Amino acid sequence: MMKPKVYVTRQIPDRGLEILKDTCDLEVWEKEIPPPKEILQDKVRGKDGLLCLLTDSVDQTLMDAAGAQLKVISNYAVGYDNIDIQAATERKILVCNTPGVLTETTADLAFALLMTVARRIAEGVEYVKAGNWKTWGPKLLLGYDVHGATLGIIGMGKIGQAMAQRALGFKMDIIYYDPKHRPEVDTSVGARMCDTLDEVLAKADFISLHVPLTKETTHLIDAEALKKMKTSAILINTARGQVIDTNALIKALRYHEIAGAALDVTDPEPLPPDHQLLRLSNCIVVPHIGSASIATRTKMAVIAAENLIAGLKGERPKFIVNPEVLTNN
Ligand code: DGY
Repeated sequence: MMKPKVYVTRQIPDRGLEILKDTCDLEVWEKEIPPPKEILQDKVRGKDGLLCLLTDSVDQTLMDAAGAQLKVISNYAVGYDNIDIQAATERKILVCNTPGVLTETTADLAFALLMTVARRIAEGVEYVKAGNWKTWGPKLLLGYDVHGATLGIIGMGKIGQAMAQRALGFKMDIIYYDPKHRPEVDTSVGARMCDTLDEVLAKADFISLHVPLTKETTHLIDAEALKKMKTSAILINTARGQVIDTNALIKALRYHEIAGAALDVTDPEPLPPDHQLLRLSNCIVVPHIGSASIATRTKMAVIAAENLIAGLKGERPKFIVNPEVLTNN
């Protein structure tokens, strides 16, 4: 029997590729930089399955370039804002993602970022490396206490909850805003749901973003929102760059309207090396590594591969973004 044809847009951890090799006729983009749009359009032509990354924009043009036989798009990420879900559903293409496995790893990074900015660790490392460490200084690199501070979580889904658990260990007060009340979180970590986003913005010492990127959350943190925060507040983003209005953030950091920011995700992404955000001492940026542990990225690769194969076999993949494709068939 002919094996289904599959295109993978980057080298993912070996385990995922091995699973695919067993059952599929596989082609993999070998370079570090994502395939340019026109090349990708060419590569997907005639493929039954596509395993893509958050750096690939999968729109209707790409789906149509692939052809009507394209059955499954398996995203190597929990977020799927890079894919036009409606267009996929209209074409009866299943879209899959990798939720769950990266929850704890991403929350680890979010908390590490919080600590890093609060205690000015990155600045401290640079200070020592630059040979500036002459003596112990009573006023040297003073930061903010994390213990006992108020953490405001915006988006209390799985990663938000994992962040709250970490904060509990640091004896933080936890408040949150989410369109959905999560009573289980109130009990498990003693978090308090605020009636409005503004209340979280006004009361929190640290604000951590854990919302998916949607029309509603694009620029959720804009100039107005930043003005509502304390001047001592620190903003952490491990969600998506577009949730923050970058220009507004630059102004708020430059004029000390807020104390600092720690970003795993940015808009644009990647951030050019001469970007203004990188010139601010009260901002740290890391290159979208929230889920980047060896174990988690391997699990993501296995799930993405298994999702793809299940969909190609006509079985129900474990994680589907648009299950209506199955029910409407
Ligand atoms: C995701 O999965 O959406 C993260 O941003 C990358 O792991």
